[in-house]
Amino acid sequence: MPKIEINPGIAPFPKPIVLVGAMVNNRPNFNTIAWFNRLNGRPNIWGVAMGKKKYTLEGIRQSRKFSINFPTVDIVDRVDFCGIYSGREVDKSETFDVFFGELGDVPMVKECPVTAECSVYEIVELPSTSLLLGEVKHAYVDEHIITDGTPDLRKINPFVFVRPGDQYWALGKSVGNAWSIGKTLKE
Ligand SMILES: Cc1cc2nc3c(=O)[nH]c(=O)nc-3n(C[C@H](O)[C@H](O)[C@H](O)COP(=O)(O)O)c2cc1C
Repeated sequence: MPKIEINPGIAPFPKPIVLVGAMVNNRPNFNTIAWFNRLNGRPNIWGVAMGKKKYTLEGIRQSRKFSINFPTVDIVDRVDFCGIYSGREVDKSETFDVFFGELGDVPMVKECPVTAECSVYEIVELPSTSLLLGEVKHAYVDEHIITDGTPDLRKINPFVFVRPGDQYWALGKSVGNAWSIGKTLKE
């Protein structure tokens, strides 16, 4: 199969989307983020690449805390809203029902079945983004998404972001068990 070169700006795709929350000037604010990932196991560190001018970043620099919220299909319009408008121009504090956890002043989204609150471990300054390394201090899930003690994807209905095309896609079906299906190739 021939390969052709394309604009590397597309990769990686598809990406889960998260809402990153922080208090900014005493109000909850949420930023829609595609550039995030889990980066370390112990301690549990997640990375978020945030544009240097984002309003949410101002709050995070001050409080040194932020939340990560995993949205579902039912709130995709509100997630997009938070990715279009900056808290600098639009008050996003009432876009979602907000709750607070153990860290006290880290706003989390009630409508998201999985959320976590982080303290800043380090901020790495890249040319156009600040890479926030957040140590996850506490994570929360809705009771109703639990099956046999763990979060159950079939009860969540998450979505991913796809570029090129800039669309949100729901997930399809499972195609194999990790650390398992590959073993069939050993012989
Ligand atoms: C699908 C999507 C993904 C985005 N991913 C990122 C991202 O990874 N990092 C980032 O800084 N901004 C990202 N943005 C843009 C911000 O969400 C947007 O600039 C937002 O208005 C910033 O809000 P704030 O200024 O209130 O913090 C994304 C927007 C959308 C719609």
